[in-house]
Amino acid sequence: MVQIAPSMLAADFLHLEKDVELVNRYADIFHLDIMDGTFVPNISYGFPIVEAIAKQAEKPLDAHLMIVHPEKYVDRFAKVGVDMLSFHLNAVENAGQVLAQIRAAGMKPGLAINPDIPVSRLFPYLDQCDYIVLMSVFAGFGGQKFIEATYDRLAAVKDEVRRQGVDCLIQVDGGVSAVNAAKLVENGADILVAGSAVFKAADPAEVISAMRI
Ligand code: DX5
Ligand code: ZN
Repeated sequence: MVQIAPSMLAADFLHLEKDVELVNRYADIFHLDIMDGTFVPNISYGFPIVEAIAKQAEKPLDAHLMIVHPEKYVDRFAKVGVDMLSFHLNAVENAGQVLAQIRAAGMKPGLAINPDIPVSRLFPYLDQCDYIVLMSVFAGFGGQKFIEATYDRLAAVKDEVRRQGVDCLIQVDGGVSAVNAAKLVENGADILVAGSAVFKAADPAEVISAMRI
């Protein structure tokens, strides 16, 4: 069964409580996009918002770090109650070390790549990851258009996960909606991240349920 992870970047920050309750009620995971203005050309939000969400969240928190030096903040994310922590492969010198650091801090480690990085670069790390974040847009902004080449990349990662026999989920992030959800699941997606499609909809609960099919 696919899990739906609404991206809180698209939430209504003036009424955050309402959107947190929506995820508690209808979705599976809170996706928290952390951007530093250096690894990506945008700044999102930081610890005060993550802490506020953590206080009210009844579902696991998944922080997606789009920052340089993610290794510096691993302990802080563990402390605020994050359950799943991902970073970008090309943001670090030694991805294996950072994955191990995240696990040692008691969280599930995830490894992310942008659409221009060959998926084969993930393969040496699959056995250390609880999940892969396969970007279907270039990290940095919500509301971008889904890149169609993602389907083939996803299928290639899924094949390799099966070949290696590892327990590694695949999360697809960017431009995901009820329109492409079914095809993504067919091609091997285990977790779908969706920001705009959920929070900009007239009926977010209905969109979440449509994405489960
Ligand atoms: C992009 C972020 C995504 C984004 C998804 O840098 O990692 O999680 O918020 O938003 P939508 O679903 O609007 O593309
Ligand atoms: Zn994200």
